[in-house]
Amino acid sequence: MKTLFINADPEAFNPECLTDCGEIIKCGGLVAFPTETVYGLGADGTNDVAVKKIFEAKGRPQNNPLILHFASVEDCAAFAECDERFFALADAFMPGPLTVVLPSKGKCAPSVTAGLDSVAVRVPIHPVARELIRLSGKPIAAPSANISGKPSPTLAEHVSADLDGVIDAIIDGGACSVGLESTIVKLDENGATLLRPGGITLEMLISVLGDVAVAPEVLAPPEPGAVPLSPGMLLKHYAPNAPLYLVRADSDVKMSEFFFEASKDAENAVICFDGFAPKQSNVYYIGDKNDEFEHARRLFDLLRVADTNGAKRIYAPMPKRDGMGLALQNRMLRAAAFRIKDL
Ligand code: TXA
Ligand code: MG
Repeated sequence: MKTLFINADPEAFNPECLTDCGEIIKCGGLVAFPTETVYGLGADGTNDVAVKKIFEAKGRPQNNPLILHFASVEDCAAFAECDERFFALADAFMPGPLTVVLPSKGKCAPSVTAGLDSVAVRVPIHPVARELIRLSGKPIAAPSANISGKPSPTLAEHVSADLDGVIDAIIDGGACSVGLESTIVKLDENGATLLRPGGITLEMLISVLGDVAVAPEVLAPPEPGAVPLSPGMLLKHYAPNAPLYLVRADSDVKMSEFFFEASKDAENAVICFDGFAPKQSNVYYIGDKNDEFEHARRLFDLLRVADTNGAKRIYAPMPKRDGMGLALQNRMLRAAAFRIKDL
């Protein structure tokens, strides 16, 4: 298949450039599009044949449900049982990098929810994503636009590396501003549970909902045989080809000494805070030590770049647990298959 490439600079795009992509979605095709979190691989969420193509293109297990993307908060209510807690979250954080799992009204294509009686809904804030949803006139079912298990795409180049020739179109909207997938919170009769941390932090959710439980699989490897609350929270995920090791130290000096030594072996890739190792071709700066939002923006790209440059092993600092650190730690633990190097 020849994949159509569309340039849509979010600062200055002409909505007309998305007309063809809206038609592709309406006709049951697949379009990769930018969002503020990561690039999504979209299909008409009411067309089961189209949705099944997503699973095939990504090599995604059939039991892993998809998020439904809407142009407005009001539109979510046709597909999900939205309660007061949902509207309180929506007032505070939507549109934005938040997904809410609610009881499904059974109106979407069955493959979207993979047999669950709940459905995940999200209203992205990215202007290109919003315009594409509006033009297609449908809720768009979309997982991240990567081959299953690989780091999520934060640039259109990442999407084409994985899916060029496999999907109908790729819309290039530049770099994603958050860089990690949306926060997922589940609302049910047991209360609110954080299934996946992201740009809307746990602290922000608590400020609106009061009490939010954290699903055990957010920071711990799933128990063998246990059914995770969110089927996507597998042991190894978001992973580069080379093994990743998370480095934990009680002082910056120890951490930078370790990175400096590691960088002397050209087969190692060192992902570190700015200045923690002398700059050279196998050293990748992830941002100022205290700027977790920058680390989030750069992480998935650096994992891919280290792979492309042929690294045999990758070292990166273990993030903290608060604010955006929780989302970083969740992704990095999985990318590292829980390998931690304590200094
Ligand atoms: O930022 C994002 O959320 C991106 C962009 C494209 O919107 N999408 C994304 O989708 O990360 P995906 O498919 O890579 O991750 C969705 C996660 C999976 O872990 C899936 O298991 C979970 O959401 N999920 C979807 N529906 C669910 C449901 N009804 N109950 C529990 N988990 C659900
Ligand atoms: Mg994904």
